[in-house]
Amino acid sequence: MSRDALFTKLGQQAPGASDWRGRAEWLRSELNRHAHAYYVLDQPTIPDAEYDALFAELQALESEHPELASADSPTQRVGGTPLPEFRQVQHDVPMLSINNGFSEEDIESFDRRVREGLGSDSAVEYACELKFDGLAINLRYERGVLVQAATRGDGTTGEDVTANIRTVRSIPLRLQTNDPPLLIDVRGEVLMFKADFARLNQRQREVGHKEFANPRNAAAGSLRQLDSRITAQRHLRFFAYGIGRLEGGDFPPRHSALLDWYRALGIPVCDERAVARGAAGVLGFFADIGRRRTALPYEIDGVVYKVDRVAQQQALGFVSRAPRFALAHKFPAEEATTTVLDIGVQVGRTGALTPVARLAPVSVGGVTVTNATLHNEDEVRRKDVRIGDNVIVRRAGDVIPEVVAVVPERRPPDVRQFEMPVACPVCGSPITRPEEEAVARCSGGWIKCAAQRKGGLLHFVSRRAMDIEGLGEQLVEQLVDRGLVTTPADFYKLGLVMLSELDRMAEKSAQNVLKAIEKSKSTTLARFIYALGIRHVGESTAKALARHFGMLDAMLEASEAEVLAVDDIGPVVAHSILSFLSDPLNRELIEQLRASGVHWEENVPERGNQALAGKTIVLTGTLPTLKRDEAAAMVEAAGGKVTGSVSKKTSYVVAGDDAGSKLAKAQELGIPILDETEFLTLLESPE
Ligand code: IVH
Repeated sequence: MSRDALFTKLGQQAPGASDWRGRAEWLRSELNRHAHAYYVLDQPTIPDAEYDALFAELQALESEHPELASADSPTQRVGGTPLPEFRQVQHDVPMLSINNGFSEEDIESFDRRVREGLGSDSAVEYACELKFDGLAINLRYERGVLVQAATRGDGTTGEDVTANIRTVRSIPLRLQTNDPPLLIDVRGEVLMFKADFARLNQRQREVGHKEFANPRNAAAGSLRQLDSRITAQRHLRFFAYGIGRLEGGDFPPRHSALLDWYRALGIPVCDERAVARGAAGVLGFFADIGRRRTALPYEIDGVVYKVDRVAQQQALGFVSRAPRFALAHKFPAEEATTTVLDIGVQVGRTGALTPVARLAPVSVGGVTVTNATLHNEDEVRRKDVRIGDNVIVRRAGDVIPEVVAVVPERRPPDVRQFEMPVACPVCGSPITRPEEEAVARCSGGWIKCAAQRKGGLLHFVSRRAMDIEGLGEQLVEQLVDRGLVTTPADFYKLGLVMLSELDRMAEKSAQNVLKAIEKSKSTTLARFIYALGIRHVGESTAKALARHFGMLDAMLEASEAEVLAVDDIGPVVAHSILSFLSDPLNRELIEQLRASGVHWEENVPERGNQALAGKTIVLTGTLPTLKRDEAAAMVEAAGGKVTGSVSKKTSYVVAGDDAGSKLAKAQELGIPILDETEFLTLLESPE
């Protein structure tokens, strides 16, 4: 962010030259305050990127006006303030920081400086690793035994967190070697994996405790527990990436060899590392990690390059708070602050109402964001987001931008509370919210509510469903608004004239849309099931259903027990499927789609023999060996159906002892009657 933009955001005027001293003082006190909130209270008040911008401004000011420099400036120290509750630990070798780079040019000039510093023209080898988003820790082993663990603190003095670190299961209490060094300070990062973080916050929510803003704050908060039993429940992890003091042992000649040695000693080292040559090499590593970033089980905010050869590291040395031989290449900030202009609600295809913050446009991770989800009403209350608030917005990877938190100290006096509407903003139907659910819904259904209709239709045509290219949001909107399309079946009735008359539709594009609609008729059963938009039936459930039933009719006729037999389908999903399929309107839709030519290859699923396919069986009386439900399961497995009463449609009656009126009825109607042995024979070999 530019300096002027920053001032605008803070509602202040950029100072004139005479105000530099005041400005520097203000920056120092702001930075100190935010750093205290961040490091000591584990409750960040502004996004990292903004802190970095303030910090960079102060650094620039101090170097332009050396008379402003002061020993107690935040630029003169490395980390946070040690906590008073923990015993203080002096680091024998200071724990430094790393300089940051953001652009390719930053990396190239870092590489140039390194080569200049070494007086060498040949490509330098860099150890590339991840920049973990946790907190730095020093582990001291004496004769192979863990004797002390300390946080970085201000780089010189940290906090003794030995008791808590002992609870981190991946950290060895004794090194795996018969020949340990007399003393070694292993340095690395303590962090919390994303899944553990999600579970922790879930638990915090359940017991009504405050949630953590991100995995790093959760890791920091967990490590600074005064009660190590709490730390033990938090599932912290550790990755080593550096070394402090070493006695009675030799420094490996390369950083990469140091990490290999750690691994051999049983110290956790991250697998995502490589040695690369020159700027081009490290940029390749950066690109590769960038692509896989969201799939990693932990959060990283960049990668780190370190000159691999230790002799070269020593030749390069340090400048003030950071080594010349290392650089952190950071990803663009995924968080930014902006103002909530309004809070609206979006009606989804299932009628679910999602509060959405309308934002003053802000660039996050290189994309301009104007809307961010607030998930549901409870989230709005929990985060206490109000209209007019300053908020931190986050956009990670390809997920929908969300409001992370309010910046309470920037709350203007005239903020307004958000109220969930009582009527649907689109169709006016009442909004309902079952007590035990977090989601409020429009009760209009998709017949009444155009938003649900549009959502459902867009889902139907989407890439993973029927994949009708060219039927985007604007086109579907027009089709619905003009009443040309009400149900998905209507797509298959569209004609060239109708389409060409729409806004922004030339005949050529209308033809393309029709072609895409035609092409979509040839699909797969899984896509078709998914496209129906049955609640709780996502892509993988749709695939499981298609695999299990093989044929649509088999699914349409399935009993609850049969649906429950499908992989990973539980009672809630089964109920949703059965209630969708029992609605005559949905049945009609399915028939219309089939009638307009939507088809797929049907498979008879491999389910052993289907001796009773299409047959209806009535079980009555007590069978000699089979229990009633065992026999019923066998009938269903063989493709038959079990019913409770005998009629002309009954194929067989299986009768045991004490069979009563059903047996009599079967005799009366002339329906074949089988005993257990005959039943089992029939299952083996249909006549
Ligand atoms: S090396 C002399 N390597 O980033 C360099 N630090 O700004 C010492 N960090 O406090 C640090 N991943 O908490 C190094 N692979 C990595 C890192 C890493 C994360 C953190 C660490 C440190 C900060 C430096």
